[in-house]
Amino acid sequence: MIKTGKVIEAMIEYYGSDLRRINHFLKVFSFAKTIGEAEGLDADSQNLLEVTAIVHDIGIKISEQKYNSSAGRYQELEGPAQAEILLTNLGYEKSFIEKVCYIVGHHHTYNNIDSLPYQILVEADFLVNLYEDGAGAQTVKNSYDRIFRTATGKKLLKKMYFSK
Ligand SMILES: [Fe+2]
Repeated sequence: MIKTGKVIEAMIEYYGSDLRRINHFLKVFSFAKTIGEAEGLDADSQNLLEVTAIVHDIGIKISEQKYNSSAGRYQELEGPAQAEILLTNLGYEKSFIEKVCYIVGHHHTYNNIDSLPYQILVEADFLVNLYEDGAGAQTVKNSYDRIFRTATGKKLLKKMYFSK
């Protein structure tokens, strides 16, 4: 199995001096790893989750260059091709890359989440974005009700945002 640290290094290389993006994916990776382990994912699903968390926003760079926008739909459009190049260069298998790319291409779409790694990635991204966006109490509550499904994700969100 290729070490996830290699993917982290490759993403830092990809983002260069974009420290905000680097710090963002490192946080999402940590939450995703934590939730995945606590939810008892098998080794393959855990690996898929961790790699996906590291590369999930890879489409941002091209979206900003091409459309002058980091909107979710552009990221979903541009991300998979970038992820495919990066992961192929690291030696990942095609079938694995396809699974990563599917989630990368849908990670801002919340109405048809069809796997646990996908669900957990979305929860991890929310845990970070709520903080980075300075979300208010009502937004946090709505996210809890509408997005969070796993017991661990819900527990973490409650601890971080609802406990005084
Ligand atoms: Fe993100």
